[in-house]
Amino acid sequence: MTKITAAITGVHGWVPDYVLTNKELETMVETNDEWITSRTGIKERRILKGENQGTSVIGTQAVKGLLEKTGNKAEDIDLLICATTTPDMLFPATANVISNNVGAVNAFSYDLQAACSGFIFALSTASQFIETGKYKKVIVVGADKMSSIIDYEDRQTCIIFGDGGGAVLLEPDTEGYGIKDSILHTDGSGEQFLHMKAGGSRKPASPETLIAKEHYVYQEGSQVFKFAVTNMAEVAADIMAKNNLVSDDVAWLVPHQANKRIIDATAKRMGVSSDKVMLNIHKYGNTTSGTIPLCLWEYEKQMKKGDNIILAAFGGGFTWGSVYIKWAYDSK
Ligand code: UT7
Repeated sequence: MTKITAAITGVHGWVPDYVLTNKELETMVETNDEWITSRTGIKERRILKGENQGTSVIGTQAVKGLLEKTGNKAEDIDLLICATTTPDMLFPATANVISNNVGAVNAFSYDLQAACSGFIFALSTASQFIETGKYKKVIVVGADKMSSIIDYEDRQTCIIFGDGGGAVLLEPDTEGYGIKDSILHTDGSGEQFLHMKAGGSRKPASPETLIAKEHYVYQEGSQVFKFAVTNMAEVAADIMAKNNLVSDDVAWLVPHQANKRIIDATAKRMGVSSDKVMLNIHKYGNTTSGTIPLCLWEYEKQMKKGDNIILAAFGGGFTWGSVYIKWAYDSK
């Protein structure tokens, strides 16, 4: 029997208009453009403003654009998975909201939460539904409105995160293109260094949790950095070794955009030169589940059919992993 792989056959991204620059952050917290640029590589990030604007706004725009550019009808989508850490509401799933907004009436939808590794966890999950032969058109969304859980008085976190996201379409391929392999990891002991304390079932929202600012991201940055820099580099190198790839075989590294220094360390460990590394952290900061699809969207025209592409991410949980893709199309 012919082996079915899940090929990405289209990608689209969306970011809100409002640009929060390092200069503006200087007026909000004790920081400066030089520190942010040299320690993270970030110059600006996008913020979704306005009442009743949740992550589904980002996801909906990305999916609408994806359907339009790939010439697909919303009712032909079988499944939509949304990777997000900032759902519109605890329930129902933001994926359901997006499916409803775009008219994907025949799709079943659900959210997947793996913090900054969310997109690659969702991509790996979605690929199984295609590989079994059961479904033909699956959309994976990675989107976050991080500004909704950031304390703009905390200079450790507010300089890093931004809002945005993207979506890819997966379809069956029988010529060996698409998602070839994935390695995913979690280590729940990482919770202590990166989490949001309240608003879940362990500590529901109350006047006390609000006063204690427990509805914001808590991050011990330098601890997370140490784990991220080691594990993201390690897992990217592991997937190369497992698939007998040497650095010359890799056309693109698509790293989660959390910190330019983590990205550089990953590329170095893989032996991949900087011209093969997709980068947009300077424009968007860390959009959590959004970073990788936003990169794929912005670099779409530069990728060629047959390119070996390595995705790599690290995030809260801890979660981390890598996906190896043989790119399936030349974009027009
Ligand atoms: O995406 C999910 C996973 N998250 C990550 O991967 C994030 C990983 N962590 C990081 O990217 C970095 O740890 C940060 C960007 C968060 C912080 O950079 P760092 O180089 O680890 O800085 P640090 O926390 O070790 O702080 C160094 C110094 C401190 O001052 P002293 O104690 O040396 O006087 C901080 O108080 O920099 C100070 N500092 C700042 N100064 C200006 C911390 N934040 C700022 C700031 N502006 N925004």
